[in-house]
Amino acid sequence: MNICVVGAGYVGLATSAGLSDWGNTVYCVDKDHWKISKLKKGKLTIFEPGLAELMSENIKANRLFFYHSLPRALKNAEIVFLAVQTPPKTNGEVDLSYLMAAAQEVAQALSKDAIIVNKSTAPPGTARKLQAIFDDTGYSCTVVVNPEFLREGSALEDVFHPDRVVIGAIEELASKKIAGLYQHLDTEILQTDWESAELIKYASNGFLAMKISYANALSRLCDKCGANIDMVTVGMGLDKRIGPDFLQAGLGYGGSCFPKDVSALVKWAEDVGYDFKLLKSVQEINATQIDFVLEGLVGTLGEDLAGKHLALLGLAFKPHTDDIRESPALKLAKLLDKKGCCLTGYDPHAMVNVAKVAPFIKLCPDIITTCKGVDAVLVLTDWSDFATLKLSELAEVVRNKVLIDARNLYNPSVVRRCGWTYWSVGRS
Ligand code: UDX
Repeated sequence: MNICVVGAGYVGLATSAGLSDWGNTVYCVDKDHWKISKLKKGKLTIFEPGLAELMSENIKANRLFFYHSLPRALKNAEIVFLAVQTPPKTNGEVDLSYLMAAAQEVAQALSKDAIIVNKSTAPPGTARKLQAIFDDTGYSCTVVVNPEFLREGSALEDVFHPDRVVIGAIEELASKKIAGLYQHLDTEILQTDWESAELIKYASNGFLAMKISYANALSRLCDKCGANIDMVTVGMGLDKRIGPDFLQAGLGYGGSCFPKDVSALVKWAEDVGYDFKLLKSVQEINATQIDFVLEGLVGTLGEDLAGKHLALLGLAFKPHTDDIRESPALKLAKLLDKKGCCLTGYDPHAMVNVAKVAPFIKLCPDIITTCKGVDAVLVLTDWSDFATLKLSELAEVVRNKVLIDARNLYNPSVVRRCGWTYWSVGRS
């Protein structure tokens, strides 16, 4: 198949890499000249394990091409994937202007019939709006909804081994054609109507966010009764109806999807006349989990944090990414800065991005330098580099052996036996 992918962000690139690797010819287009010129050389503008290598292989095999000219990218395409950003507005509602603008541009540049596949996350009703745009082109174009469920940091794993592929369409032939792109994968392909496919994406992210907030709320209860949140969630997860995933208590969820999609679902529900109180609580628990960790620090170092020197390990919103959007670690860092703390920080991949938005953190080249002379070490993302660090080496450079583990990476009794004052989430 000849496929055009509009948008070279996480979703557009991972989709382009997957589709080209499966033997299709993919023309990926983006307005950003700098990004496209790097991509043509097989270089990424984001950090995503394995993606640059896979793209390079497919570029060399003449199956993957990058353009900034939309008409050129569309020239041979039978299928057009829309994979552009749908960011939040200040009121939490989703901003569909980029998606609608991209659809208008594609509609104007088309020179033949095509199936239009929307991969951008957008609320129910969006496919209908897109179809109206393409109905005016004079070509036969049908819209298909094919939401993307990939996680940053493991995007390729999710593209090649998805838990499911969802295809929402009103025309059976188009639905089958898009299903055909994925039929070699060992996965369930669920064919639905437009609105169900659109809602599945939001419903899934909302549910996963809810699991995390549930675990985080329980972590606070654990502290009140002396229970251990890790044991509680293991015990819950053994029930097949619950499952063990996304029950890791910590500093709360961040990133470009959960915060934005939960807000968008709450807002969209409001617009259609439903007050989604359950998800509002999920948001509230997530926002206040940062305060809970701050309380843990205050309980250890005392109320007056002014002048305290703190080492922050992990600044991205999660491991294996350089993405700092809605990073709970940075939110906590901002609170600590306001309280007058001196902050040093380290992240294996996110430092370039952190430097742009958080000049109040003195970034260091490694963990040991970050921790030199500090009053406390705070572990804020669950990088394996941090889980395996040698506490005996840290003990030699810190001023106080205080460890605040906001991701429950260490065994409390082992750390305490080594003489550290240790606080973790819900394991008092
Ligand atoms: C998420 C969805 O998983 C993915 O399906 C969707 O397409 C996009 O949004 P992503 O944002 O890349 O993916 O990251 P994910 O691994 O889901 O983690 C999201 C946040 O939740 C991170 O901040 C992570 O640290 C946090 N998290 C995750 C927890 O706090 N506890 C958990 O148990 C799991």
